[in-house]
Amino acid sequence: MASGEPLILGIESSCDDTGVAVVEAGRTVRANVVASSARLQAIYGGVVPEVAAREHVATILPAIDRALREAQVELGALSAVAVTQGPGLFGALLVGMTAAKALAVAGGLPLVGVHHLEAHLYANALVGPLRFPALALVVSGGHTRLYLWRNHGDLEVLGETQDDAAGEAFDKGARLLGLPYPGGPEVERLAARGTPGRFRLPVARLGEDHPYDFSFSGVKTAARALIARHPEAAADIAWALQQAIVEALVDTTVRAARRLDLHQVYLAGGVSANRGLRAALEAAGRDYGFRVSYPPPALCTDNGAMVAALGYYRWRAGERLALRAPVGA
Ligand code: KG4
Ligand code: ZN
Repeated sequence: MASGEPLILGIESSCDDTGVAVVEAGRTVRANVVASSARLQAIYGGVVPEVAAREHVATILPAIDRALREAQVELGALSAVAVTQGPGLFGALLVGMTAAKALAVAGGLPLVGVHHLEAHLYANALVGPLRFPALALVVSGGHTRLYLWRNHGDLEVLGETQDDAAGEAFDKGARLLGLPYPGGPEVERLAARGTPGRFRLPVARLGEDHPYDFSFSGVKTAARALIARHPEAAADIAWALQQAIVEALVDTTVRAARRLDLHQVYLAGGVSANRGLRAALEAAGRDYGFRVSYPPPALCTDNGAMVAALGYYRWRAGERLALRAPVGA
């Protein structure tokens, strides 16, 4: 099915999801295959790097085949192959990088490397045209970072977590509550049955030296103490945990939007699937005059489509990754 538009194949393997997608012109998803080893990782209560890497080895070739078949495209009809270069788990990244290099050689295609966090943001390009300048909040299992996003390829880090990532706080809190990995969706489900406001957990504020940074390690410690005192109140504590994390994210984003006079906020990363976070940020946007955009849940967590979307802009700008390029970004 040739449309004349450039087709980019994107490969994501930085953590426990093997993602392969074909995206047209950086905006239309033609195929998006995600094979998750989360169920396997759940046995260990988190991601074991060696287990993740082995799973990628087993799933990546079938995922590439399936993505090409679903997109109804031959390898030679692609314009480029894009791959997550980092950050992420070394062994896991290596599998995706090696597969991407092999495909580029086999198809005589240009290779493009992308940064995982920036790729998360480009899930928003699959929803509608991006509006710049914007604030961009990436909240995932491994990272929490706020950017000033001026244009394609022009991002400035405003702040980030000083300790745990927001997703990590959800995952660790979930574990304390006896919930399986990944914990974010589980905490969200349990919190919906909790009594709002029965408990409050502290939100760390880092002061004016770090106006846009985050700290989530304290909330986990406080949750542990609360669970010890009220073992019967899991749902109420889940509510308080989610509330504390969401409040920290929203407060910091609002502060940046107001001070920098920005009227567009993009959310991305696994935690942006959280309905409490989306609703609270949208409510703040109504109060302070910014618009909030986020991807559909399937594009919030790791996937190849976001890699292909960012890869399209990189490819169009003439960026290329050498075949000898190492893992890591
Ligand atoms: O972006 P992602 O798939 O992988 C990383 O790059 O880390 O994010 C995974 C993280 C996990 O910590 C998971 O618990 C969290 O996203 N997550 C959520 C929700 N869905 C996934 N956290 C809160 N609420 C959710 N609905
Ligand atoms: Zn991610």
